[in-house]
Amino acid sequence: MSMHLTIEEQDMLAGEQGRATQKAMQILVALGEIYGAEYMIPVCSVQVAGVSYDNLGDAGLQFLAEMADGGGRVRVLTTLNPAGMDRENWRALGIPADFAEKQERVLEAFSRMGVSLTCTCTPYLAGNLPGQGDHLAWSESSAVCYANAVLGARTNREGGPSALAAALTGRTPGYGMHIPENRLPSIAFHVEPTLRETRDFGALGKAIGEKIEASKAIPYISGVSTASLENLKSFCASLATYGGVALFHMAGITPEAGQFPHPVEALTITQQELEESAQSLNDAGSQQVDFISLGCPHLSLPEIAHIASLLKGQKAKREFWVTTSRLVKHAADRLGYTRIIEEAGARFAADTCCVVAPIRDRFSVMATDSAKACYYAYAKNKFKTVFLPFDEVVKQALQ
Ligand code: F3S
Repeated sequence: MSMHLTIEEQDMLAGEQGRATQKAMQILVALGEIYGAEYMIPVCSVQVAGVSYDNLGDAGLQFLAEMADGGGRVRVLTTLNPAGMDRENWRALGIPADFAEKQERVLEAFSRMGVSLTCTCTPYLAGNLPGQGDHLAWSESSAVCYANAVLGARTNREGGPSALAAALTGRTPGYGMHIPENRLPSIAFHVEPTLRETRDFGALGKAIGEKIEASKAIPYISGVSTASLENLKSFCASLATYGGVALFHMAGITPEAGQFPHPVEALTITQQELEESAQSLNDAGSQQVDFISLGCPHLSLPEIAHIASLLKGQKAKREFWVTTSRLVKHAADRLGYTRIIEEAGARFAADTCCVVAPIRDRFSVMATDSAKACYYAYAKNKFKTVFLPFDEVVKQALQ
C-alpha cells in the first residue's frame, strides 16, 4: 500500500521544491513504506546524528554537501548531535588538523542548510525543548528516549539521513512512537534499591536494558521515588544503549506513566542486581586511570557548578574532559565555573564528546559515571573503564 501524501508533499516528491527536498521526500516515503506508514506527520523539531567526521567519512560528507548544493533548507528548528571536535578548543584536546578541516566542512554543509550548529545530545538543555505530545524527528538514542519518556513528545529513533530529510521537508512518516497504541508498556519492573546517583540510574538502565534487549518491550518501572533531570538523562542513555529502548514509563515520574494500563506482574530489580550491573562496568583491575570524562550525556549547568565546587583550588593530575554543549558552557563562562575548572587543569570539550572524538590509542583506562560511556569506551576505543559515582570520578583526577 502506498502512502497518502498531501498536495504539498506530492510537489516535494515531484521535485517542484528543489532537488534536495525531492531526495529528502524520497527517503521518507521509502521509510514510510517499509514500516507501513499511511501518511506523513508534520514535525516541529529535528535533531540530526551523524555529525562527527570520524563516523561520517568522505561518503557522508559528500552526501551532506550534495543536499546543501541541491538547495536543501530546513523548515523547522534543527540541531545536531556532538561533532568530532570542540571547534574552539580542538588543538588543546589533541585533535589532528586534517580531521579538524574535514569536520569544519561537515558543519559548513549543515550551516548552509540552515541547521543550528548546536552540537549536543541534550538538545533539551540547549534551546531545542519540545512539549508533551509534540512530534519530532530526533536521532540520538539517549535524547530520543528522554524526549519520548520524560518530555512525553513523540519520536522514532531516526538515522542521520532520515532526520535530515525530516528537517528539509518538515515531515516524518507516521509509524512507531508517533502512534499512541505503540506507546503502551508491555513489561513491568519493580526497583527495590534506593537510587541516589547518576551512576545508580546508569546501572539500572543497564540491568533493565539487558533483560529486554531482544524483545524491544516498553518497560513500566515502579519503585523509583524520585529522579532528577540528571538522573533521568543518565538512565535514558543507559537504557537506550543496553536495551535499544526508545520509551519507558516510570510511575510517579514520567508524564504518560498513568495514561496506559500496564502489566500487573513485575520483575524485581534487587540491590544485588544493581551492584552487579555497576561492577560489570569496572574492568580495569589495578590499571591506572589516565583519562577522566564527565558529560555523557552532556552535562547540565548544575553538574558543571558541582564540578567547579569540587575542583576549586585543586590541581587535576590526569587528562580530564568536561563535556557539554556550547550553550551551557557559555552560561558556565558567565557564572565563573569555567575559570575555576580550567584553573584546576581540566579541559572543556564543548559540542563534542569522548565517544565521537578521534581519541583511539591515546588512553588506556577511562573513569566516568556514565554506563553509556563505558560501553562505547570499550566498543569504539578499546579503553578499560572505571565506573564510579560522579564525585568519585572527579577525585580520580586529583589523585
Ligand atoms: Fe552524548 Fe557522546 Fe554520550 S553523544 S550520550 S556524550 S556518547
